[in-house]
Amino acid sequence: MPPSVTQKMNFYQGHSPQELTAAYGSPLYVYNEKIYRQRCRDMVELTSYPHFKVNYAIKANTNLTLLRIAKEEGLCADISSPGEAIAAIAAGFAPEDMFFIANNISADEMQFAIEKGIALSVDSVSQLETYGRLNPGGEIAIRFNGGVSGGHHENVITGGDKTKFGIRAVYIPEVKALLKKYNLRLIGINHHFGSQNPEELYLAGVEELLSIARHFDDFEFIDFGGGFSIPYRKQQGEAPMNLAFLSQALTDCMEKFNAEYGKPLTYMVEPGRYICAESGVLLGTVHSIKQNGETKFAGTDLGFSVLARTTLYDAHHDIEVYSSHGGESSNEACLINIVGNQCESGDYIAKSRLLPAISEGDILGILDAGAYGYSMSSQYNHRPRPAEVLIGEDGGLKQIRRRDTYEDMLANML
Ligand code: LLP
Repeated sequence: MPPSVTQKMNFYQGHSPQELTAAYGSPLYVYNEKIYRQRCRDMVELTSYPHFKVNYAIKANTNLTLLRIAKEEGLCADISSPGEAIAAIAAGFAPEDMFFIANNISADEMQFAIEKGIALSVDSVSQLETYGRLNPGGEIAIRFNGGVSGGHHENVITGGDKTKFGIRAVYIPEVKALLKKYNLRLIGINHHFGSQNPEELYLAGVEELLSIARHFDDFEFIDFGGGFSIPYRKQQGEAPMNLAFLSQALTDCMEKFNAEYGKPLTYMVEPGRYICAESGVLLGTVHSIKQNGETKFAGTDLGFSVLARTTLYDAHHDIEVYSSHGGESSNEACLINIVGNQCESGDYIAKSRLLPAISEGDILGILDAGAYGYSMSSQYNHRPRPAEVLIGEDGGLKQIRRRDTYEDMLANML
């Protein structure tokens, strides 16, 4: 049998999925520190341009141990809420290492950013007015929506007229009027138009944001957003993003714009998925096999409370089957639906997937689950969220989050 994706990456570094679930319970999020650090470095080294910042979109994974590693690797943090700011602070990020990209926040949440000294971006004319009233003479960044839209699913498109995000370019006169009215200093311009974009589309977005930036003068930074893609179909040979191409093209864009602008600006990117997706595998256990008419199901403990992406976006995750007899299953392949234990029909990890024959007791590995996996998990059906464990660079295991207890789950109810 050819080596599996995790074997090629040496993901488990000598540990077996069975050993891990026996020690920490099932389901379980497992992370590989080496891969995580490498992805941080890929982004930090994306360009040799000296004023370049990588703001990791921590919404993808806010585990504090992982955030501390990201900080060590030189990343800053893109945050979307006061809660994420508090997590980032707990992981050692300073307020000046953070950029709060807000969407429909309350005046109290704006006040939080102002008091903490965290740079804030607003993304509507009305939020700019609220900010102006709260903090006249203050500094503000603005998120524009130039119209380019990307994203692997309708629910993650954040550019164009149909999304709630960003200020369309036609409102630039209103923006300028409000900046003047409240004596606000525009510190930066940013956008984010979707997730899991091909390189060319990302660069089209860059050009579009630069054309919006030309309407303003005297700001400090331009933030091109996140949306870098990762290969979710490695089992089918999908290639990773072409970083060398992206690097060259981005560096050219930045240098050309500086020449036009007349001063070296700071440029930023905001990768979320790229940093943490591939360093995470979600392990779960098969509890039943059944046939309903033509359809075969493997029933697991991997409900959408543990991984919501498949149900929410019909997202593809490669799956490995670790047979209960040890090692990867080598049985004959068959088409099967991998479903969870939530009481809803939309509860599935994969539909009609060709996988090696699966038996009760087998462990499944859901690959590339490190981004928007745990961070979007819930306690639906009163199921405890899983534990998280890190395989360190030296191969040692470190539990980095414990499983919820039933007491935790009742604790907030009065
Ligand atoms: N910047 C902003 C302002 C964002 O809203 C996001 C993600 C990012 C950066 C990072 O995007 P990334 O590089 O991860 O594509 N839950 C969905 C993705 C939603 C992304 C929301 N915003 C998923 O699992 O595919």
